[in-house]
Amino acid sequence: MENRPVPLAVLISGRGSNLKALAGAIDAGRVPARIVVVVSNRRDAAGLAFADEAGIATAVVPHREYATRPEYDRALVQTLRAHGAEFVCLAGFMRVLGPDFCDAFAHRILNVHPSLLPAFAGARAQRQAIEHGVTLSGATVHFVTPELDAGPIVMQASVPVQPDDDEEALSARILEVEHRIYPEALRRILSGGWHIDGRRVRWAGGSPV
Ligand code: GRF
Repeated sequence: MENRPVPLAVLISGRGSNLKALAGAIDAGRVPARIVVVVSNRRDAAGLAFADEAGIATAVVPHREYATRPEYDRALVQTLRAHGAEFVCLAGFMRVLGPDFCDAFAHRILNVHPSLLPAFAGARAQRQAIEHGVTLSGATVHFVTPELDAGPIVMQASVPVQPDDDEEALSARILEVEHRIYPEALRRILSGGWHIDGRRVRWAGGSPV
C-alpha cells in the first residue's frame, strides 16, 4: 500500500492482549504501522493501562453517552481522525459498528474473531463451538462491515477442540492463534496486492505475500 508506517487506531473494550500482540509485532518491525491511538468504550479496559505505559495516546468514548448508534459512530470517527488514524484494528471491541463508521474507513477496518467464520458469529463464539460439538475451531481475521462478523476473510487458523474442553480452555487455545495471525494478517493487508471481490479478499498472484 505505502512505504511510511500506516497510522493505526486500535479499538478495545477489555484486556487488550491482541492490542499487545499488535504493538509487539509493530515494535519488532514486522508490521509497517504505528499505533496513533488506542480507543475504548470503557474507562476500565485494562488495555488502556498497557497503552499508557507504552506511551501510546488513549481515548475513551463511552457508548452510554450517545443516544443512537450513528451518533456514537460519528464520535468514534471524529476521535480517530483527530489522531490522524488511517486504518483501524478492532481488538476485543464489544460494540457493533454501523455504516457511519464502516463507510468512513471502508476496507480499512480489521477485526479478530475467536471462531472459524462464518461459524459462530457474535458473542461467546468459543462457548457456541463447544455447545455445537465441533472438533475444530480457531480464529479469523476479517474486514469489518456493518453486518456482524461477516466481512471478507483475510486469514484463518484452526485449533482442535478437545472433548473435555470448557470455554476457558478453548478460549486460551484460540487466543494463542489470534495473537499469531492478527499481526500477520495486518502485515499482509498493509503490504497491498489485494482487492475485495464480493465477499472475498483476492490476492495478486493467487496467494498472500
Ligand atoms: C478475543 O478473543 C477476540 O477474538 C474477541 O475478543 C477477545 C479480546 O481479547 N473479539 P483481548 O482483549 O484482545 O485480550
